[in-house]
Amino acid sequence: MNPVPAADTQDTPGTPDTFAGLYGRPAEGEWAAPGRVNLIGEHTDYNLGYVLPIAIPQTVRAQAARRDDGLLRLWSAQGRGPVTELRLADLAPGAVPGWSAYPAGVVWALREAGHRIGGADIRLDSDVPGGAGLSSSAALECVVATAYDDLYGLGLSGTELALLAQRAENAFVGVPCGIMDQMASMCCRPGAALFLDSRDVTMRQVPVDLAAAGLALLVLDTRVKHDLGDGAYAALRAGCERAAALLGLPALRSLDPAGLAGALSELPPELGPLVRHVVTENARVEAAVAHLDAGDPAAIGPILTAGHASLRDDYRVSCPETDLAVEAAVAAGAHGARMTGGGFGGSVIALVDAAGAEHVAAAVTAAFRAAGYREPRTLTAVPADGARRLA
Ligand code: GLA
Repeated sequence: MNPVPAADTQDTPGTPDTFAGLYGRPAEGEWAAPGRVNLIGEHTDYNLGYVLPIAIPQTVRAQAARRDDGLLRLWSAQGRGPVTELRLADLAPGAVPGWSAYPAGVVWALREAGHRIGGADIRLDSDVPGGAGLSSSAALECVVATAYDDLYGLGLSGTELALLAQRAENAFVGVPCGIMDQMASMCCRPGAALFLDSRDVTMRQVPVDLAAAGLALLVLDTRVKHDLGDGAYAALRAGCERAAALLGLPALRSLDPAGLAGALSELPPELGPLVRHVVTENARVEAAVAHLDAGDPAAIGPILTAGHASLRDDYRVSCPETDLAVEAAVAAGAHGARMTGGGFGGSVIALVDAAGAEHVAAAVTAAFRAAGYREPRTLTAVPADGARRLA
């Protein structure tokens, strides 16, 4: 889920610092798509449940211009390799290695869906930290989807573009992710969290004014990504689907909390905790939305911490670094904290009093130092805008 920039192919760039230096002509426009943190609702999207992400200010940016010769050319300031040159006609799942698979997959998905599009020259740049569980890959897909939509006048909605970006990741890159990250990157709005129902992909913008409540949301990037992650995600998803099938349900979302105890008694012991996490996590999203609607964001703190315990003990996707960050943040006065994203490393969010933010960040850093871990990187997240045209 983390595009690793790879130097795969073709021409040596001229002066890659500008689009014109790279491709010898001006760009037709520039677009941006953000990374995200999820406030609550983890591993619920592929169970057709609820999620509540916000976009972060960090974005992937694309400058682009159309081509009429069937070529897609890509260059990334993070990869700093040669320009990758691909023929649209040759795009096929599994055929493109490295980070280029994400943008190429979007172009493939657009063509597969029957949209009449040509090639493009694209220059990419990003300040979304990679490998930090902040969805740099979804941001990369969504910025390319948005640029193509504009350049070729497709008129697709944010939801339609997010679904195409998810198809690119599922079918072209080969990662069985849900819809949360792409919907967050496409559809989040400033000052709001996106309350998304993954079953019918409908959403509501829920205002989140942390500053007015004297609060801040810290993002603590643990800077670890355990290898286990990618295979484990697919296995967990398969486990949930098996449990739903055994219970005769279309998805775990359909299990009423009142039926949880009965369901647990019917399931093999390894599946019960997965089901318990999904059912309780959906309820946590609804409870968090109710507090936000009531204008009381501090009240979601204990919900975040309870969500982390469920991911740690039932879903088992936390790791010593994320557990320590949560524990240290809460001990230092955070209203609540949890890992965010798929797990096995990545980032922890902590809801803190704005005045105490530095103290909490310093306490987590000190705890990491004492444990012999790398120092976490700290960002402050404010709910930012989704994908958009910049110029
Ligand atoms: C990753 C996936 C999402 C979602 C989260 C866990 O970020 O891309 O679809 O499943 O993990 O909530």
